[in-house]
Amino acid sequence: MGSDRKVISVKFNQDQGKKSLKKIFQHSNLLSIVGCFTCSMESGIRIYNVEPLVEKAHYDADMVGSVAQCEMLFRTNLLAIVSGGSRPKFADNVLTIFDDLTKKFILEISFASSIRAVKLRKDKIIVALLNQIHVFSFPTPTQRLFTLETRENHRGLCDVSPLTSAEKQIWFSLATSLADLSCTEIGISSAPVWIGAHKSELGCLALNQQGTRLATASNKGTLIRVWDTTTKNQLVELRRGSDLATIYCINFSRDSDYLCCSSDKGTVHIFAIKNTNLNKRILIPSGGILGKYGDSQWALANFTVPPECACICAFGPNSSVIAICLDGTFHKYVFTSDGICNREAYDVYLDVCDDEDYLQ
Ligand SMILES: *[C@@H]1O[C@H](CO)[C@@H](O)[C@H](O)[C@H]1NC(C)=O
Ligand SMILES: *[C@@H]1O[C@H](CO)[C@@H](O)[C@H](O)[C@H]1NC(C)=O
Ligand SMILES: *[C@@H]1O[C@H](CO)[C@@H](O)[C@H](O)[C@H]1NC(C)=O
Repeated sequence: MGSDRKVISVKFNQDQGKKSLKKIFQHSNLLSIVGCFTCSMESGIRIYNVEPLVEKAHYDADMVGSVAQCEMLFRTNLLAIVSGGSRPKFADNVLTIFDDLTKKFILEISFASSIRAVKLRKDKIIVALLNQIHVFSFPTPTQRLFTLETRENHRGLCDVSPLTSAEKQIWFSLATSLADLSCTEIGISSAPVWIGAHKSELGCLALNQQGTRLATASNKGTLIRVWDTTTKNQLVELRRGSDLATIYCINFSRDSDYLCCSSDKGTVHIFAIKNTNLNKRILIPSGGILGKYGDSQWALANFTVPPECACICAFGPNSSVIAICLDGTFHKYVFTSDGICNREAYDVYLDVCDDEDYLQ
C-alpha cells in the first residue's frame, strides 16, 4: 500500500439516514440508511456513503493537508478536522472547521496541547485534550461555554448524544470513572456526576443515540458494562473474551437492543442487551464447579476482520453489522437471534469508484 493510501483514522457521521441535511450530497438522490464515514489519510480526506458503498467526496492533501481526524456534522457541508501525518496543514493542537461549499477553512481554534478527540453536534463542539475537555457553542457564534480539568485521558475518551433533545448529552472518561457533563453549563458550577465503571483504566466508551445507555470497557478489553445513565446502575456485564484485548469501538443498535464491539483480536462481537437470554453462556457440566467465567454472558454472534487493524463498527439495516477497517476493507454481516452470522458484503473501499462513476 503506497503511503498516500495510508488511512490514519475512520469515523462514521452521526446520521442514520433519517433525514439528510444535504449540501455535499445535493447531486445524489440515493437514500442511505447507515449514513457516511470519513476516512482521514496521508493524502487528505475521503467521504464514503455506506449503503451503497460509494465515494461521495474527496479533498486532496493540497487542499487539506494530511489528516489525523475528521468528524462530519450529520450530512452538512461542515467538517471538523485535526491535522496529522507527514504533511499536516496545521499543528496537532489546532481544531479547524472546513466548509465544503467554499472549500475553505472557516474556523481555527488553538489549544494548549494536542487534540485527542473531537465531537460535533448540531449545537456544540467538544474537544478532548490530555487534561481538559472544552465545550463550545456551534456553529454561530462559536464560543467557549466551559472547560473542565480532567485527569489524564490519553485516548480522549468522550462521547456525546447527537440528539439535542437528549437529557444526558456528554460523557467523558476520567481514568476509571465517568462523568456526565450535561449538567455543567456556563455559570453553573455543579459538579459532574460520576460512575466508577471499572477497576482498571477505561479503554473505550460509547453512548447510545438517546443518551440513555452508556457502554464501557476497561483497557484490559475483557468485559463490557452497560449502564443506565439516569439511575447510574449497571444493567448488564458482557464478556468479550478472557484474554487481554484493545477495544477499538463499541456501538449500539438504533433501538439499543444490541451492541457491537471491535477489538485487535480481529473479531467483531454482537451482544443482545435487551433480551440478554440470546447471549451465549458457557455450559457448566452438571455437578461441576462453577468455572471462573461460568455466569458470564458471551457474544450472541461474531465475525472476523483483519487482526491488529483498527476497525469501527455500526449496525446497519435488517440486523446487519458493518465494520470499516484502517487497512481499507469494508465488511458487512447479517446476524440472526440464534447466533448465525453470514457475510453479506466485502469490499476494499479505497478502490471503490466515486458516485459519478457509480451512477453511470
Ligand atoms: C455508531 O453507529 C452510528 C450509526 O448507527 C454512528 O453514527 C456512530 O458514529 C457510531 N459510533 C462509533 C463510535 O463509531
Ligand atoms: C464466534 O462464533 C462461533 C460460532 O458461533 C463460535 O464457535 C466462537 O466461539 C465465537 N468466537 C468468539 C471469539 O466469540
Ligand atoms: C430489509 O428487509 C425488508 C423486508 O425483508 C426489505 O423490504 C428491505 O428492502 C430490506 N432493506 C435493506 C436495506 O436491505
